[in-house]
Amino acid sequence: RHPGWPAKLGPLRVPAGILAVRPVRLRDAGDWSRVRLRDREHLEMWEPTGVGPWPERNAYWSWPSQWLALRGLARRGQCLPFTITVDGRFAGQITVGNVIRASLRSAWIGYWVSSDIVRGGVATGAVALVTDHVFDFGGLHRLEATVRPENTPSLRVLAKSGYRREGLFERYLDVAGGWRDHFCYAVTKEETGDGLVSRLVAKGLAERV
Ligand code: ACO
Repeated sequence: RHPGWPAKLGPLRVPAGILAVRPVRLRDAGDWSRVRLRDREHLEMWEPTGVGPWPERNAYWSWPSQWLALRGLARRGQCLPFTITVDGRFAGQITVGNVIRASLRSAWIGYWVSSDIVRGGVATGAVALVTDHVFDFGGLHRLEATVRPENTPSLRVLAKSGYRREGLFERYLDVAGGWRDHFCYAVTKEETGDGLVSRLVAKGLAERV
């Protein structure tokens, strides 16, 4: 077992409903595939370029191998792969990946939310829950989020959550078929005070339930 894994986080009341975060499951296959096949336009331009066509990569039968890979990385302490739920229903994913220990103790965070539930504070709440968790229980000191300058909703999520812009990574990631510039946002444990969730609660953006 690695620090902070497995874990269930929340619940938190946000405008969209009751938000919680838990480890990805094999039985997420049906919801994961249904939402992602429907949401191709919402997701594809922001995600790493994949091998093969979208319908194939997001088919029901492609989840078990992804889930196995994520579970393997999680068991080795290299990744914390979570499913986001709202009112108990599948609502997206939030993942902490490329966990580096030793004197860096840093990782990236990435997320997506089902198109039928966006603009309800779900991603912001999930980022706050997961960030607090990895700093308090995962043994990490820093999280970084890289986001395309065109991705206004995700930039808002990071600003609302308390991440800081550190710079521009040029031609950084192979996303949607090309090398895309990304802003790097980050937060370190010292900056979070009583935690990012407490800050959202103080601002009236979320409520502990
Ligand atoms: N123009 C301007 N602002 C917008 C727009 C838009 N078209 N759409 C949403 N927003 C704003 C919302 O109003 C809200 O800000 P506000 O609270 O100040 O009003 C903010 O963006 C969204 O905040 P949340 O409700 O917390 O986030 P949500 O649950 O809607 O999820 C997310 C945001 C994850 C970016 C979602 O839109 C999504 O899944 N997008 C596709 C995948 C993606 O881009 N993932 C992030 C990649 S970058 C990374 O992972 C670090």
